[in-house]
Amino acid sequence: MLKDISCGALRSQDIGKSLTLAGWVHRRRDHGNLIFIDLRDRGGLVQVVFNPELAEKAHEIAQQLRNEWVIQVSGEVSARPEGTVNEDMLSGAIEVYASELTVLNRSLTPPFYVNEDTTVDENVRLKYRYVDLRREVMKNAMIVRHKVVKYIRDFLDSQGFLEIETPILIKSTPEGARDHIVPSRLYPGNFYALPQSPQQLKQLLMVAGFEKYFQIARCFRDEDSRADRQPEFTQLDLEMSFVTQEDVLSLTEDLFSGLLETLFPDKKFMKPFPRLSYEQSMEDYGTDKPDLRFEMKMSDLGNSAKKTEFNVFHNVLDNQGIVKGFAAPGCGEFTRGQIDELTEFVKERGASGLIAIGVNGPGESVESVDMDKVRSNITRFLTPENVKDFAISTGAANGDLVLIVAGEPKSTNAALAALRHEMGIRLGLADPDMMFFAFVTDFPLFEWNLEEKKWDASHHAFCMPKDGFGKYLSNDPGKVIAQSYDLVCNGLEMASGSIRVHNRELQEDIFEVLGYSREEVSERFAQLLDAFEYGAPPHGGIAPGIDRLLMVLTGKDSIRDVIAFPKTQSQMDPLFGAPSSVEQSQLEELHLKVVSLEAEDN
Ligand code: AMO
Repeated sequence: MLKDISCGALRSQDIGKSLTLAGWVHRRRDHGNLIFIDLRDRGGLVQVVFNPELAEKAHEIAQQLRNEWVIQVSGEVSARPEGTVNEDMLSGAIEVYASELTVLNRSLTPPFYVNEDTTVDENVRLKYRYVDLRREVMKNAMIVRHKVVKYIRDFLDSQGFLEIETPILIKSTPEGARDHIVPSRLYPGNFYALPQSPQQLKQLLMVAGFEKYFQIARCFRDEDSRADRQPEFTQLDLEMSFVTQEDVLSLTEDLFSGLLETLFPDKKFMKPFPRLSYEQSMEDYGTDKPDLRFEMKMSDLGNSAKKTEFNVFHNVLDNQGIVKGFAAPGCGEFTRGQIDELTEFVKERGASGLIAIGVNGPGESVESVDMDKVRSNITRFLTPENVKDFAISTGAANGDLVLIVAGEPKSTNAALAALRHEMGIRLGLADPDMMFFAFVTDFPLFEWNLEEKKWDASHHAFCMPKDGFGKYLSNDPGKVIAQSYDLVCNGLEMASGSIRVHNRELQEDIFEVLGYSREEVSERFAQLLDAFEYGAPPHGGIAPGIDRLLMVLTGKDSIRDVIAFPKTQSQMDPLFGAPSSVEQSQLEELHLKVVSLEAEDN
């Protein structure tokens, strides 16, 4: 090794030792006679002093040093003089007096400073990711990621799981996104698809008798990137045979609670993880991934709305719409401007408007409403009785603000759920140290696709209907509840899973509801259906998203900050410049021709 010890590992007990260090120049201060540098390696920082009286040559070279140069220094560890101890640095009680200095490599002036916490454009950070990853916060994110994945591996190993890799070049696996496809050279005109998840492969591993499988699996989905989505991401994919839903949930709970207790002792969580059904979750929170760190439950306000003179409510209710809302505590005095801003917020999320009703003043009773004190954008349509109704239905206390959206159920729920989440954050109700894990269960197996007028799988096609629900498959698919479940945390979906179908007939019936023809089924799913005929055990599993989990655990706003080399929001890789064109010869080998968009249009 070119070094004896990591810079950040040096402590007072090393005083008097002569050692060789190597790393990057983090900061350099030239005090004329003495030159100080903070030398950085993965382990941390140490101060190195160049004194011309002790080491003339080293001091001379040190004059040329610049940030991010790579150097090797030999010297003696000394106690820092009194009054110069740096409490902010772990090695701050000591410094190294250099006797020799070798420049191992120079650096251009970096595009941004590693030693400063400034805001840098993300494209620049990703283009120079190797510099960005040197920053303390990024380094720590990678260390946490390593520890989390190691914990998961050790835990599952202790529970008898086997880690098995599955191929990346496979065939299309429907998980609801577009496939990334790879042309085959040997079979011109044919393509591999990159797995959206190893779903069918892990089921095949159950048929193969492995009983408990897991994998830290890379998944590929050609879908728009978002703060919590990447086109290429990592799942902990796991599957177990001879299990019930209860077994999978309890293993998941043990894994996540153990992980928090061991690696994040400062984080709070509820154990057992609360559970709520999909239906309950939609009713109370308008979403299947509620942030349960705060209450603010929603209420159906249809009955209260009917009693008002406000026509919008009547129109919506007459057209199978809903009127729903919740009470934001202490916001009754919100100004017109603030309400307008919230209205814009819900409109951007698909609602046609927002009704706000500030209920009385603090300390007064909702029982006797004084209309002079009610603040609302629909005051003239409201009687004191209406206001009281809304207040009682939403549980609003005096001084609270009732926020109401009316419209078609899906978009109304979505807009209100986003508003509830936003208000929770703005009002400081979402404790950042709380990891509110919960299981949402009993998802419907299918959801109606309004645009295409067909049934889609809510989760995927391989979920087992709950006992007693199979009978609706042929005549009322919307009624079928599946043995499927999500793990949610602080308003994000962390994991999804289900007990799977393991027999051919039932799986074929489900494909039929989804509108697959017989030919399509045998083209796309023969491998799984055939396998079900060779002794498939009952099985089920779950797949937590590793990147999302890390994003929440490290308090980041984007999963890009917990991935070493992520893609940008627009699916680009600024570092390699991918995607990029390929050589004409490569296209020819693959029998592919690129047609420009203009040519296609003509
Ligand atoms: P699902 O598609 O719900 O289920 O994915 C499981 C979990 O993976 C994470 N995730 C993502 N993370 C980052 N970027 C993405 N584009 C992305 N998409 C999903 C989420 C999500 O909860 N095969 C099933 C699992 C199963 O049934 O066992 C599946 O993939 O955290």
